[in-house]
Amino acid sequence: MTALKTVLAVESSCDDTSVAIVQENGFVINQVSANQDLAHAPYGGVVPEIASRNHSVSLLPLIQLVLEKSHLDWKDIDGLVVTNRPGLIGSLIVGIMTIKSISQSYKIPMIGVNHLEGHLLAPFLRDHEYQPPEDFTYPYIALAVSGGHTSIYWVEAFSQYTIIGTTKDDAAGEAFDKFAKLLKLGFPGGALVDRFSQGGDPKAYDFPRSLILENSLMMSFSGLKSSAARLIEKIPADQIESSKSDLCASYQEAIVDVLLNKLEKAATQYQCKKIVITGGVSANSRLRMCAQELAKKKNYTLVIPPLRYCTDNAAMIGYTGILRLALGQQDELSMGPSAESKETDFKYSLQGYSDNGKKK
Ligand code: KG4
Ligand code: ZN
Repeated sequence: MTALKTVLAVESSCDDTSVAIVQENGFVINQVSANQDLAHAPYGGVVPEIASRNHSVSLLPLIQLVLEKSHLDWKDIDGLVVTNRPGLIGSLIVGIMTIKSISQSYKIPMIGVNHLEGHLLAPFLRDHEYQPPEDFTYPYIALAVSGGHTSIYWVEAFSQYTIIGTTKDDAAGEAFDKFAKLLKLGFPGGALVDRFSQGGDPKAYDFPRSLILENSLMMSFSGLKSSAARLIEKIPADQIESSKSDLCASYQEAIVDVLLNKLEKAATQYQCKKIVITGGVSANSRLRMCAQELAKKKNYTLVIPPLRYCTDNAAMIGYTGILRLALGQQDELSMGPSAESKETDFKYSLQGYSDNGKKK
């Protein structure tokens, strides 16, 4: 029996430092991560300089820890994978430079991968506690929804990804975070809006659902945020506290409605009943519940990976890299970070919109 190929992967594109050891069948031997929420909380958002400084403190101990937990040595590692785009440049550099040094020292091939491709392939990850539905495979529709991105992809096969819908302005996670700031809930905002929504009335306030009537798969969340700001201004300060739950539940409902409406339209347009939701916002309890209801009603196979593979994580990066290394792809020392995806990473089919989501 030949041993399965094994890679060590690093994800440091934003504010989570994560390291994982992954096998070619998607099995995650171990993943260890360091969360920076406390460091950014006083500023109400991710501060790039603080993020990269914390990555450089956490990364080497995490690499050592994941090897120890897995009882593996560098000689057991067939490849090294690192997120090299898109993301915060300073954060990406920490991961890239570390992986380059290990690659040089131990003569292990390395590859840089697109963070979003990682999110798209997360449904194939498995471990001792979780595995995706047995027959789950391509093609599928994937909604990748996080603080920086909100797009719907037609995932035809490995490496064949078409963006079929995207937000014209803010990402859904950003809309959650900005609303949390307006209500002074704290950081990270999305999870707090989710928590305050519990017990709130989702119909108490009527927030706009932009573009929901359009057949296109484009989304927009900036109007929602402005309307929330106007509404909150009008509510007397002493009533804000008692309205918090209803405000959060209603605002959350507007986002969930838009996301699932567009996902359902995508499934119909592409005649596909396999649906994936991934990215940090997929942690949202209302989104999860409503997506499951929709899947039941429409007979979809719905895969929402467990949180450890939905939020930013190194396992998804490792799995993406191991597939690329298996195709003979590999990066050289000249590999650098990029704030944006490469032109060739995705195809676009945005029905009357250009690649950046602006109307043509
Ligand atoms: O994928 P992720 O961890 O990092 C990015 O690549 O952005 O996503 C982070 C985003 C943040 O905007 C955060 O507020 C949002 O996911 N988020 C949530 C929840 N948990 C995290 N949004 C709504 N409900 C949640 N429970
Ligand atoms: Zn992400």
